[in-house]
Order: sequence, then structure tokens, then C-alpha cells
Amino acid sequence: MTTSPAPTIQFDVESIRKEFPILHQKVNGHQLVYFDNAATSQKPLAVINSLIDYYTGYNANIHRGIHTLAEKATKAYEATREASMKFINAKHVEEIIFITRGVTEAINLVSHSYGRTFIGEGDEIIVSELEHHSNIVPWQMVCEQKGAKLKVIPILDNGELDFNAFKKLLNPKTKLVVVNHASNALGTINPVKDMARLAHDAGALILVDGAQAAAHLPIDVQQLDCDFYCISSHKMYGPTGAGILYGKKELLEKMPPFFGGGEMIKEVTFEKTTYNDLPYKFEAGTPNIADVVALKPAIDFIQSLGKATIAAHEHELLTYATSQLDSLKGIRLVGTAAQKVSIVSFVVEGIHHFDIGQMLDSRGIAVRTGHHCAQPLMDRLGIEGTVRASFAVYNTKQEIDKLVEGLDRVINFMK
Ligand code: ALA
Repeated sequence: MTTSPAPTIQFDVESIRKEFPILHQKVNGHQLVYFDNAATSQKPLAVINSLIDYYTGYNANIHRGIHTLAEKATKAYEATREASMKFINAKHVEEIIFITRGVTEAINLVSHSYGRTFIGEGDEIIVSELEHHSNIVPWQMVCEQKGAKLKVIPILDNGELDFNAFKKLLNPKTKLVVVNHASNALGTINPVKDMARLAHDAGALILVDGAQAAAHLPIDVQQLDCDFYCISSHKMYGPTGAGILYGKKELLEKMPPFFGGGEMIKEVTFEKTTYNDLPYKFEAGTPNIADVVALKPAIDFIQSLGKATIAAHEHELLTYATSQLDSLKGIRLVGTAAQKVSIVSFVVEGIHHFDIGQMLDSRGIAVRTGHHCAQPLMDRLGIEGTVRASFAVYNTKQEIDKLVEGLDRVINFMK
């Protein structure tokens, strides 16, 4: 999404809203306004029904049984892998590893498997000041264990990465650059393609946290030329407990397994175990079959609307919310990068963000408040936290009006 003029919207938001039963309820006596999509998005009927179909029709363990239900479950699970490959334009289907949480697990897999094998004493890992804790802490742990150093790309005051500072941090000791595609706290979209090119020129790899991008931005891992890309299902209209780790085949092949157990082996003896081929080498144990199966209708939902259409609608919401909130006295927007996904973060002078969140909740409006698992970023900005409204494809301008009206009342009430 960019700040350029949005194309005309091609879809009818009311018909999209009908696909999301949870939206049609009252919370604290008011029609729900759900603006916490960066934490988790709501699920369309196709996803909910897919879970019901699976559990009522063909629940079985996969890859092992030869009976009909097991074959059906295996086929559905692998169909999501195929859809995921197309969703991010991976080259090979075995580059798609399913994980059982989300981006946090994907990053931990890479930090344990790649990080602890290929990063050593004196090596450097570059993170950014914009990162979620899940893309900081696993790398700190690698550094502690292996004697490597963590280097941090600073941000500019508007929430963009300081690209020149990034260039200066790169050097022959850099082994890995880790960065989000879009910031969960501020919405900043990062120039990951350029960062990948520069990281590679320096002889380093790049891992991209795509948690906040997957539902909003086009993702083409071949075009970005990233080495790893991580996605959470639940932030892109899919179920919780599932996610995708993309890794370039040649890298995944040379990485040792993270978890040991069933499924990830070819042959086990007490003397020696040989590991399974990709992607199964990284999928030990019974996976979260149902939720992976139900990730496919979430991908289909996004693909059927098209990322460009989604981005145009969300961009309109972002522009509208930004100008409405900016004109409210007492509100200061935090994060005004030129390129943003549909997240607005702000502070209200003299009122704690938790109080704002609670008062909005009493009016049926769900936002997130706090540090958004990005404490170093909040420290850099000199604040404890923000109020964050994050929009999805089913949100409307009328809902933003309710947020603005609610905030106006809270500010006047607390004065
Ligand atoms: N990472 C999620 C958020 O930003 C939980 O809210």
C-alpha cells in the first residue's frame, strides 16, 4: 500500500462483512467495531466451515494412514501447501514449512536451526528498531550462546528505517539481517527488497517477518529475493495455531532439523537416524492438520478479492482515519511513514492509553493499547505505549467515524 491515490474500490464491503459472523454482534450495548486486526483478524465463514467439515467429515492423521479418511486429510493438508506456494510465489512446494504457532515459531525455528549452526563468535546479526519482540529475543539468544553481536538499525522520527544507517551497519561480519515487512506498532512498510539486495551484496542472508504484510501487501519471495519469510495464519483471516515458514530450498536443505520425532525421519536406529526430505524434515510430530487445512480458504478469500483491491480499500481507510484523527485536538499520531499498511497508532495528551482503550471498549470499539510487544521501539519514541487501530478488508469509514466520535467524547470527558 502506498500514499498514492487509491484506485476505485471494486468490491462491496457490506457483502464481505456478511462473510464474517462475529462482526454482527453488540459489545457493551453497541455494535462491535473491530479495530484490532493487527493482533488477529476475524475469520470468514469459509474458514469456519472448513474446520467443521474437517472435524465432522475426515479428521485423521496425515501421511501415515492408508485408509480413506487419512488420504483425504493428507490431500487437504498438502493442498494448503500448494496454495501457500502460489500465495507467496515460492519456486518449490517443499520450501513451504508449516508451523504450529505463527511467526514467533517460524523465527525460532530459523534461529535454532540456522542461527545456532551457521552463526559464530564475532559474527553480526542486524535487527531493526521497529521489530516485534519475536524478531529480537530469539536473535539475542543466538548471540548470547554463540558470542555473536546484535546490531540495530535506528529509525527516523517518522517511523521509517534509517536506510543510510543500515548501509553503514553492513560489513563482512554481518551474517543475517532480520526485519519486518511492515511494523505491527506503527504500520511502516520497510524496503525489504532493497535490504535483501544490500544484505546479499555484503554476503549476509535476510529473514523477513511478514506477520503484518500477509493480509495486506503482495508477497513475491522470488522478487524480494529474501532467504526466509514468515507468516501467521491468524493474522490473514485463517485459524490460530498455524503459520508458514518459507525458506530457500538450498538453505533449508543444509539446515539441521529443529524438532526431532516422528515424520521428520527416514530411518531410525540407535546408532544413527537419517532425516526426511523437505519439507517434512521440519515438521516433526502430528501437525496442526485442521488449522492448516482451514488456512487454504483464508488464502482463497484473499486471492479472490485480490491484494490490489484489498490494499486500495485499506488505503482509503488509512488516509481517512489519519486525517480524522489528526484533526482531533489532543491526539498525536505516532508513525507517519510515507509507506504504511492500515495501522494508525496515537497517543492522547494527558490520558493513559489503557484508559482510552477501556473507554472505547465500553462503546463497543476494540483497539489495542500498550507497547505492542515492541518495547525498544517505544523507548526510542520516548513513550510507554500507544493506542493502535488496525484495519482489515471488512472495516468501513462509518466505523472510523465511531472511533473518532468515541475519542472526542473521551477527551472531553477527561478534560
Ligand atoms: N503481534 C500482535 C500485535 O501486534 C499480537 O498485536
